[in-house]
Amino acid sequence: MVEHHLLAKDITRIYDDGDGNRVHALDHFNLEIDHGEIVSLVGPSGCGKSTFLRLVAGLDLPQDGRLAYNHQPINGPHYDRGFVFQDSNLFPWLSVYDNIAFGLKARGLYRKSREKVQELIELVGLQGFENLYPYQISGGMAGRTSLARTFIQEPGLILLDEPLSALDAFTRMAIQDEIIKIWERCKPIIVLVTHDIEEAVYLSDRVIVLSPRPGKVIGEFQITLPRPRNRTADDFVHIRREVMDTLHFI
Ligand SMILES: Nc1ncnc2c1ncn2[C@@H]1O[C@H](COP(=O)(O)OP(=O)(O)OP(=O)(O)O)[C@@H](O)[C@H]1O
Ligand SMILES: [Mg+2]
Repeated sequence: MVEHHLLAKDITRIYDDGDGNRVHALDHFNLEIDHGEIVSLVGPSGCGKSTFLRLVAGLDLPQDGRLAYNHQPINGPHYDRGFVFQDSNLFPWLSVYDNIAFGLKARGLYRKSREKVQELIELVGLQGFENLYPYQISGGMAGRTSLARTFIQEPGLILLDEPLSALDAFTRMAIQDEIIKIWERCKPIIVLVTHDIEEAVYLSDRVIVLSPRPGKVIGEFQITLPRPRNRTADDFVHIRREVMDTLHFI
């Protein structure tokens, strides 16, 4: 089995704001993540979180620094690095089932592993809704479909950019548990960007707090609480408060 590994060393990404000004989204940003780790990035709006995910996905390139996945430089997208966006981005002309099966079909793996589609559908609680189209389903179902569509490829690395932020609190908590369930099957690295501190503490092995742009690591919390975690337990609330306090210093 491949031991997955992500390394970002001195990553710099500068944008042009259109008026000739340089915007330092990331300036010598460093992060290293080991196999099976769930890491959350929290920080103020505009500090470069999505920029970082796009770079890791291979959708953009840094001007400087080294970005490597499994010790190979990242220079384009790959199905072993999955991306779940905030808006589910489902294919509107495909049913829930076909959205989830899409990647397997594209790679010619569907015939061999079609039972995986049903398995994922059940894991995220979409059974009975497989034949509906994206316009017929709720935001929560769209979020679940989007997660299943990415997880079915069994990527070694999954990038989640605020995938649950448009959902109500109950749906969010249910899907957080589903994320843990599907993560436990193959233990990919997960990099989660979220503004929800409770979500970060609930899901992560490590929470990283970033400064305003250009994003730098200003706090790092290792979370060893056993799963499933209790959101109201003293030790949970304690870590949550510590993360909050770090953010308030910003
Ligand atoms: N393609 C682009 N062209 C120009 N500027 C960009 C581009 N993408 C991002 N930026 C700028 O880079 C900075 C970081 O943006 P980014 O989207 O990474 O922030 P973020 O941390 O994800 O913020 P949010 O929490 O609001 O999603 C912002 O100032 C943004 O305006
Ligand atoms: Mg963003």
